[in-house]
Parts: sequence; structure tokens; C-alpha cells
Amino acid sequence: MRKGEIIIRDVGVCFRLYREKVTTLKEAVVHRFRHLRSAENFWALRHVNVSITPGEAIALVGHNGSGKSTLLKTIAGVLQPREGEVLSAGRISPMIELGAGFDPELSGRDNVYLNGALLGFSRKQMEAKFDGIVAFSELGDFIDMPIKNYSSGMYARLGFAIAQDVEPDILIVDEVLAVGDERFQEKCKARILDFRSAGVTFCFVSHNLEAARSLCPRAAVLHHGRLAFDGPIEQAWEKYRELERGPMPGPQINVAAS
Ligand SMILES: Nc1ncnc2c1ncn2[C@@H]1O[C@H](COP(=O)(O)OP(=O)(O)OP(=O)(O)O)[C@@H](O)[C@H]1O
Ligand SMILES: [Mg+2]
Repeated sequence: MRKGEIIIRDVGVCFRLYREKVTTLKEAVVHRFRHLRSAENFWALRHVNVSITPGEAIALVGHNGSGKSTLLKTIAGVLQPREGEVLSAGRISPMIELGAGFDPELSGRDNVYLNGALLGFSRKQMEAKFDGIVAFSELGDFIDMPIKNYSSGMYARLGFAIAQDVEPDILIVDEVLAVGDERFQEKCKARILDFRSAGVTFCFVSHNLEAARSLCPRAAVLHHGRLAFDGPIEQAWEKYRELERGPMPGPQINVAAS
């Protein structure tokens, strides 16, 4: 494989869902509390196939809960697919939602080093990058505050500041542009365009057509965890709008043999 290439082959990601089954105390007593909870399989993604060539920029679109973040996490290696496989080559720098690669109890500063270590950088290498990361984030003294006290915009600033400074071959961004303020969004977009011209592969989740169109010529539409469309962004958006008119899907449960 070439650096920056991603192959998503028949990927299925399955979560165990625990549902409260019993609705009344009487039922609970009758069943002696034995069947209070049941585990079911929920496929957040199924049979997803996407090939991304080095230097390509692709947007992932779809309604809330369609599986976009799950797919990004699978590409980033944070989640393992139950079926199929994700192959990639090169360093992946993920800027995904709160939690992955961050410890809320630690300060912004410590999280920079923690994140760096996860991406394969030594403490010394991260020391060299540290000031640049803080400068990009514009967090100032907040860098020494535990990140559990950050606002979502502050968290996104730190996440993107790290992601943009670790020499990625593949940059993965989940909706950072939605929570950063306008000026920070512009700064992120400019940085992403730099990466694009440097040949970095880019995977981007957004509900904003303008942002997606300015960065990605191609888009994949997810619907109920399935790939509903993959192609030029204008057509993808039409497809997304069309699908969006229906009701938000409930989870499609396949009862597990648990
Ligand atoms: N850890 C988990 N355990 C159980 N279910 C999960 C888990 N993570 C995600 N899901 C479910 O998987 C489905 C896809 O979630 P995902 O976060 O990928 O959606 P999304 O497309 O990113 O949505 P949004 O636009 O709201 O960010 C949802 O139904 C969600 O409830
Ligand atoms: Mg999401």
C-alpha cells in the first residue's frame, strides 16, 4: 500500500446494546429480576466499502446516528470492526470527538504529551512541538487546566492544534469546524487546505455543505450504517437531503444469541 491510502473492505461494526426489559415492579418480581437486562447486537456499520487514494479528500455525510463517527473511529483504529477490515498506510492523525486519546482529568498540557505518545512521538519531540501547538490552539493559560473543564470549542481547539502538528499522512476530522468559533474555523480550513496541497489524505465529517464542498470534492453518504452513495459531493448532498426527509431511524436491532 502507498502512504496515505485507506481501504475499507466490507466493514461491520457491532455494539452490544443493553435494554431495560421489565417495565413494572410486578413483572420484575414475577420474573425474579432474572431478565431485567438483555443484550442485543446493534450494527452501527455494515458492509461498508470505500477506497481512498493518497492525497484524496472525502467527506462523510449522513443524518445523526448514521455511523459517520463510528467509521472515522474505525479508520483511526480506535474501534475494531467485527466484520471486514480497514487497511491504511502512514501516520493517522485523528481529531475525533471527546474521549479518544484524551484523558479528561489531565491538563491540556499533559494531554498534548499523551496524544503525542499515542501517535508515536517521544516526549522530547513533543516538547519541540509544544509551543507551536499551544499557539495554534490560542488556549493560553487554559493549557494547564484539566480538560474536563474545557468548553467543546476549547476542546476542539486543542484537538485540532495537536492533529495539525504531528506530520500526518492521513488527517481525520470529525466536526471540529462545527464547534470552533468562526475565526478558528477559518484558520482550520486554511491549515487543511495546506495539507491538501501537501498531499495529505483527508477524511472529514460535516453537516455543513459549504465547509464540506470547500474541502472535499468527493463524499460518501451513510444511512442506517450502510453506504448509500459515494461520489461527487454535489450529488452526495442531494442524496443526503433526500434521505433526510424521512424520520430519524431508530436502532436496527438484530437480537444476539447472547
Ligand atoms: N459505544 C457505543 N455503544 C453503543 N452504540 C453506539 C456506540 N457508539 C455509537 N453507537 C451507535 O451507533 C450509531 C452510529 O453512531 P455514530 O456516532 O457513528 O453516528 P454519527 O453519524 O456520527 O452521528 P452524529 O451526526 O450525531 O455525530 C448510533 O445509533 C449510536 O447510538
Ligand atoms: Mg458523529
